[in-house]
Amino acid sequence: MSTNFYNSLCGKSGRPGAIPFVHAALASVVRKGAFVVDATAGNGYDTLHLARLTAPGGNVLAFDIQPSALDATRKRCADCDSRIETVLRCHSAMQDRNFRDQWPARPAAVVFNLGYLPGGDKTLITSAETTLAALGGALEWLAPDGIIAIVCYPGHTGGELETSAVERWAASLASETHTVCRFSIPNTRRPAPLALLVGKPSSLTEAKPKEGPAHQPR
Ligand SMILES: C[S@@+](CC[C@H](N)C(=O)[O-])C[C@H]1O[C@@H](n2cnc3c(N)ncnc32)[C@H](O)[C@@H]1O
Repeated sequence: MSTNFYNSLCGKSGRPGAIPFVHAALASVVRKGAFVVDATAGNGYDTLHLARLTAPGGNVLAFDIQPSALDATRKRCADCDSRIETVLRCHSAMQDRNFRDQWPARPAAVVFNLGYLPGGDKTLITSAETTLAALGGALEWLAPDGIIAIVCYPGHTGGELETSAVERWAASLASETHTVCRFSIPNTRRPAPLALLVGKPSSLTEAKPKEGPAHQPR
């Protein structure tokens, strides 16, 4: 493993973290000019990362249910060369085909950073029910070779249930057509945030099943 690869997984603390892991994965997949979705805009750090990756000429759609989060996101991304569209709506709108048809393309990436708004009301958290609905819609909508990146917080109230539900959803995806990987940090006192990446590689969806695969699909 090269030092640069490991460093790319580390945050400001110098330790690996779920968010730097997701940002590094997005940087390897998202191209300039792409259309991408931030399903939980929050304070806009993930939207800013997506805006920088897609600039110039990209389009970033950012959801949040809190106007203050969308204000913060617009402010943070004010100088970006990508177009940022903020939507004050539950991300489960991605299930709705009419909603999806309003956008220019299928997204190359959809990012979920679950939980509550840092610095905001800690009782306004993402919930398993709407998160799973949004993930289902995002997976249908995702462009071939796109990825869904999810940061889960098992350590906060309500977060453990949501994390388990999201992990079960990811584990249930057919391995013939989807890739799933998980990033976690086991040596912490409280459960650390973890990340899941879900992909729809065209090499899998277009390939015919071979006999005797090395990896036994479910
Ligand atoms: C951990 S924060 C996101 C952090 C953010 N991506 C950033 O870079 O700062 C989670 C956000 O999800 C939002 N949220 C909660 N439920 C939601 C829902 N059903 N649809 C969209 N956003 C939701 C919260 O309002 C909160 O701002």
